Amino acid sequence: MCGIVAYIGNRNCKDILIGGLKRLEYRGYDSAGIAIMVSKGPKKGGSADVSIEVIKEAGKIKEMEGQAKEARVDGKCGIGHTRWATHGEPTKINAHPHRDCSGKIAVIHNGIIENFEELKSELKASGHRFISDTDTEVLPHLLEKYYDGDLLLAMQRLMGKIKGSGAIVAMSTDSPGEIVGARITSPLIAGVSRDGNFLASDMPAVLEHTRNFIVINDFETVKLTAGKVEIFDKEGKLTSRKPFKANWSIKNAEKSGYEDFMLKEIFEQPYGVKESMRGRLTNGQLHFDELGLTAEKIKDLKKVQIIACGTSYHAALIGKQVIEKWAKIPVEVDFSSEYRYRDPLVDEEYLFVAITQSGETIDTLAAIREARSKGAKVMAITNVVGSTIARESDSVIYTHAGPEIGVCATKTFTSQIIIMYLMGLYFGKIRGSLGIEDYGKIIDELHMIPNKIQNILNRADELKEIARHTFKHKCFLFLGRIFGLPAALEGALKLKEISYIHAEGYPAGEMKHGPIALTDTRTVVVGIMPEDSVYDKILSNIQEVRARKATIFSIISEGDENSKKYADHLFEMPRTIEELYGILSIIPLQLYSYYIAKNLGKDVDQPRNLAKSVTVE
Ligand code: AGP
Repeated sequence: MCGIVAYIGNRNCKDILIGGLKRLEYRGYDSAGIAIMVSKGPKKGGSADVSIEVIKEAGKIKEMEGQAKEARVDGKCGIGHTRWATHGEPTKINAHPHRDCSGKIAVIHNGIIENFEELKSELKASGHRFISDTDTEVLPHLLEKYYDGDLLLAMQRLMGKIKGSGAIVAMSTDSPGEIVGARITSPLIAGVSRDGNFLASDMPAVLEHTRNFIVINDFETVKLTAGKVEIFDKEGKLTSRKPFKANWSIKNAEKSGYEDFMLKEIFEQPYGVKESMRGRLTNGQLHFDELGLTAEKIKDLKKVQIIACGTSYHAALIGKQVIEKWAKIPVEVDFSSEYRYRDPLVDEEYLFVAITQSGETIDTLAAIREARSKGAKVMAITNVVGSTIARESDSVIYTHAGPEIGVCATKTFTSQIIIMYLMGLYFGKIRGSLGIEDYGKIIDELHMIPNKIQNILNRADELKEIARHTFKHKCFLFLGRIFGLPAALEGALKLKEISYIHAEGYPAGEMKHGPIALTDTRTVVVGIMPEDSVYDKILSNIQEVRARKATIFSIISEGDENSKKYADHLFEMPRTIEELYGILSIIPLQLYSYYIAKNLGKDVDQPRNLAKSVTVE
């Protein structure tokens, strides 16, 4: 939930830390802070005279940045943090870094210390003084308690004491040439460069400086000096691991002239979709051996169990429909947060799939652990190489959407849907449940999807105009059926997330069982109604809400003259096959939500109360 960055090397660190925090701001943005090791010249005995200067502020990073720019402090070793509050309000005092009683140790932390109250009482009883309401503040005091000349050892002792999750990074004036870190569940990576070394919550934070990374594993500790990154296992033994080279570039992680990351990422979808198909669907041929499943295994599959949260859950709902339709395998989709607590049934002949763009969502991780503990083999679909879920799963399929910075999932969603389509197609072919003609037709249509998405994006102004006419409404209902339903759910989620307007995604046929009572002149009903097998049904549903005086905005197939009679606003999608409307119809909804939020003056990249990866329960 929070973002962490640290640097030690031969460059001044203030700008490196602030730049890194800005790239991490999507992880948390209620307060931010940096701590810099400042040298005051040699001491009498020859050793360096150093102090740690902390600058922190409530609010977004720019609040802290202003003070940091004015403060005449700089040094070549420092740590920075952007916070998403869990314990204690988002105030300056609760912002990280936190310090021990002596002010010699500074700590940043992403995660939750579950036993902090107990630890805090013990520490208080032995004379430690606390000033914040955070769980994190116990960490510098624990380091103070355990420090006897070796900061790494103190960190390793601390790890044995705390319960919960955390990526923890610390530095001390008693060891001015090093930064130490530790990981329990929450992500932590080391970046390696000739000019110095980094720790960060994820790669975009330091992509500007290096593309060489080492993932720190659970329960490992790490020691950074200007010239070395040393990693120690759970027992404290030095381990060696070579860095991998990330294929993300800094350009991916910048706005490149767009007003917001969200808009940029919406517009990157033709590319993300193409990249996610690349190597898997070429010249009419589907290659998906990377699924790592033998034909025999696929034929014997009794069930596919998919787990996911939020937007990824909506991708799973499309996956369910195509796998059932094309491959005739029953598919169950569960929210990870429910699955993990419902004592689920696991069988060897089930395929277990976890979908998560970040690869860090704690509920999904816990559900995977639960399934694996019962003998399931887990396949993860994720966008982040080296993420915790990628490493804890038995196999991984990567979406290739590139880094997604906006808190709202957009391009990662459409890339996930592509993987769902390819999976359904592949299973259908191997099980012989898809006729050659249908198989060929689907492949042809899939090849055309990037261009059709581009066609919608080229007409973004039409959606801007519809948003301008409707943004003042207080209630939005997104209705869909079959492949339009996941799009309706996702459209409502997008609108809620960034505009804070009440919105519901609902199966159109269920309206008369309750929600139709909501509709009146204040309601906008967004109907996802391509000309598919349920077109006539949803057309009737739309007429029902229109009769109750709702404003109707219909997303229709190009040239559908009939629907035009029943809509106040319309957007025409290029035509495709029924199943692929699932991916096409979300594009106008993303843009529509975006423009409504912009009309309302909202911050679409960093909506209130949300964070990009939800690494706390
Ligand atoms: C999407 O816009 C949301 N921010 C959120 O629902 C997200 O999809 C969910 O938290 C799951 O994240 P994941 O894909 O990284 O697991």
